[in-house]
Amino acid sequence: MKTFMEAMDFRHACKLFDESKKISKEDFEFILEAGRKSPSSFGLEHWHFLVITNDAIKAALRPVCWDQWQITSCSHFVVLLAKKPCWFEKESEYLQKSFNRKAGGDHKRVEMVNAVFDNFLKKDLKPSVEDWSKMQVYIASANMMTAAAVLGIDSCPIEGFNYDAFEETLSKNVLIFDKEKYSIAYAVCFGYRAKEQTKQLRLAMDEIVTFVE
Ligand SMILES: Cc1cc2nc3c(=O)[nH]c(=O)nc-3n(C[C@H](O)[C@H](O)[C@H](O)COP(=O)(O)O)c2cc1C
Repeated sequence: MKTFMEAMDFRHACKLFDESKKISKEDFEFILEAGRKSPSSFGLEHWHFLVITNDAIKAALRPVCWDQWQITSCSHFVVLLAKKPCWFEKESEYLQKSFNRKAGGDHKRVEMVNAVFDNFLKKDLKPSVEDWSKMQVYIASANMMTAAAVLGIDSCPIEGFNYDAFEETLSKNVLIFDKEKYSIAYAVCFGYRAKEQTKQLRLAMDEIVTFVE
């Protein structure tokens, strides 16, 4: 187990994984748990993790992901799905179940949260509801990558794909993927590095931080 900062230094966008090394069930559950425990706007857990270990499906997806080696060489290829706006409509069973859970069955509180949420979606939110949902999924994925690094497991986030072609290939190969209910946020490969890590390049702290006192 690495400390938090050791894990931050260890994590890099791994370009090639060692195909002979597979992540154990126990270690992958740890990574998924980090995703599951992540924060989300209004506690709505916008994510669904499609964990692909099937080689034929990874091979089918690689050409629509800029033919990146990571897709086929990784141990676990995770497509991060985001709940579509239908989940967050006022009368949706999901929304009401979530609000009731949070309010512990207190009807007045549920009514109040409904009103605040309605106002948020209609008046305050700038991105589309679909994009807002995807934003939450990115938070979960960051935690998953750091959790993996804590265990000495590498990862690579993958946004390099053609959305429509990815969605079509996923629909053809993964029959449980329901594109009416989920959109693709992006994907992350997990596995073990085949090569040395590249140098971490970052802006200096004073270029990205401004203290306002
Ligand atoms: C949302 C997102 C999408 C990315 N997509 C890709 C990708 O498709 N292929 C790739 O090799 N790296 C991808 N990266 C990795 C970045 O290029 C990398 O994190 C950045 O250059 C910093 O390098 P480091 O993570 O190795 O420190 C992506 C990163 C993020 C956060």
